[in-house]
Amino acid sequence: MIHLQSINKIHGEGGPAPFQSLYDIGFDMAAGELVILKGVSGSGKSTLLSILGALQKPTSGEIEVDGSRIAKLPDLHASAFRARTIGFIFQTFNLFEEFNVAENVALPLIPTGMSQKEIDGNVARALDVANISHKATQSVRDLSGGEKQRAAIARALVNDAKIILCDEPTANLDRENSLTFMGILKDLKSLGKTILIATHDPLFADLDIVDRVLEIESGRIARP
Ligand SMILES: Nc1ncnc2c1ncn2[C@@H]1O[C@H](COP(=O)(O)OP(=O)(O)OP(=O)(O)O)[C@@H](O)[C@H]1O
Ligand SMILES: [Mg+2]
Repeated sequence: MIHLQSINKIHGEGGPAPFQSLYDIGFDMAAGELVILKGVSGSGKSTLLSILGALQKPTSGEIEVDGSRIAKLPDLHASAFRARTIGFIFQTFNLFEEFNVAENVALPLIPTGMSQKEIDGNVARALDVANISHKATQSVRDLSGGEKQRAAIARALVNDAKIILCDEPTANLDRENSLTFMGILKDLKSLGKTILIATHDPLFADLDIVDRVLEIESGRIARP
């Protein structure tokens, strides 16, 4: 499902202070695998996830995700690829506070040209999987941290993405909400999603659904 080969990322190339955050990264993920990406702050986890989600391009290297070669995709195609294939869950949730939960969850479907009826159906299904249907019409501003996370999960699921990328998904959650999140991950795994989670959270270490742990150290994969 995911194939990365010789990925390098240099920020500010050609400028006064170029910085290389990723060195010769290569790994594969099979469909349905759940992999933890571990590494200290600044090791390159978020950069790697954003390259996999076609939010940034690598400086060099090859990436194939669900049959698409995305390393050099023009922006327009990159956003279409994302809308079709990727669900993102961020540490800070990245929700629009002034919109309600259902509106936030519907946002990734707007560029797809779906009918309102289809959008409503997909939103209802995603809210249900993420266990947040009861807050559909509440403004995001008034949600608890755990509820915001569940709204963010619903948004990541609404396009029925095959691949879910999570960046420190439990960093802003207490233990109880983190455990709820793990429960939802189990459901996603049983739906056959391919899941990559960047995290330091030791709660993930004991999780029986984890297939593999990749360790990243100063931009290099340490234990493939
Ligand atoms: N746009 C950029 N320009 C310059 N340097 C960058 C840029 N983006 C990331 N970096 C650098 O690349 C390195 C990796 O950053 P990244 O955000 O991927 O780390 P991380 O492993 O996600 O860290 P954390 O656990 O703190 O979130 C850092 O040293 C960071 O300063
Ligand atoms: Mg990060």
